[in-house]
Amino acid sequence: MPTDKGLFITLEGCEGSGKSTQLKLLEEYFKSHNITAVFTREPGGTPLAEKIRTIILDGKNSEMTDECEALLYAASRVQHLEEKIIPSLNEGKWVICDRYIDSSFAYQSYARGLGFEFVEKVNSYAIKRGMPDLTIFFDISPDEAFSRKGGADKGDRIEQSGMEFHKKVYSGYTALCEKYPDRIKKIDAKRSVEEIFADVVKEIKRAEERLKCL
Ligand code: TYD
Repeated sequence: MPTDKGLFITLEGCEGSGKSTQLKLLEEYFKSHNITAVFTREPGGTPLAEKIRTIILDGKNSEMTDECEALLYAASRVQHLEEKIIPSLNEGKWVICDRYIDSSFAYQSYARGLGFEFVEKVNSYAIKRGMPDLTIFFDISPDEAFSRKGGADKGDRIEQSGMEFHKKVYSGYTALCEKYPDRIKKIDAKRSVEEIFADVVKEIKRAEERLKCL
């Protein structure tokens, strides 16, 4: 995507990777640099997509099949993309999204075992309409992240999926970093908040420069 449309940046990581803290710092950073940026999240981001989020994450929906889960994430993404992400980029705003399509690859393709092609197919609309310019992966293993966080959230269906599942999510992300080295930048998330944030800003500046040259 050209820079006059604003950059589309997504943040990814396992549960408890410190994304939320970095998102807050990024919000302050954009404000202080007078850059208009829309901060949003997946699943969700619009009223309808947030309703889909409630269904997906509800711990009571234990009968949900893996395929249904993948389709619901993809459905919420299409709505989010058309209603919020693309219009914002077209207005010249930056869009910073907490999780996006790589979460579907890590969680549904790799960890649920649906395979890359299935998830790619159900997300083909989003892939065609809006791939991120830059994806930052906060690299911390689930063992370390959960011990830092103090365990999994009991009401969250995905967080409750067990350590083996989260380990697969982590290897999924590692595989994605290798598959898309130009787009996905891995940042060591075991360090201090300040050190991590300095790398986040560095990667954003690099991406901006790279896209200007295209
Ligand atoms: P959330 O509470 O927002 O997680 P976090 O704070 O860790 O970002 O819940 C979103 C959950 O949905 C999270 O467990 C990751 C999962 N997810 C998928 O499995 N596939 C997807 O495509 C997306 C966007 C999220």
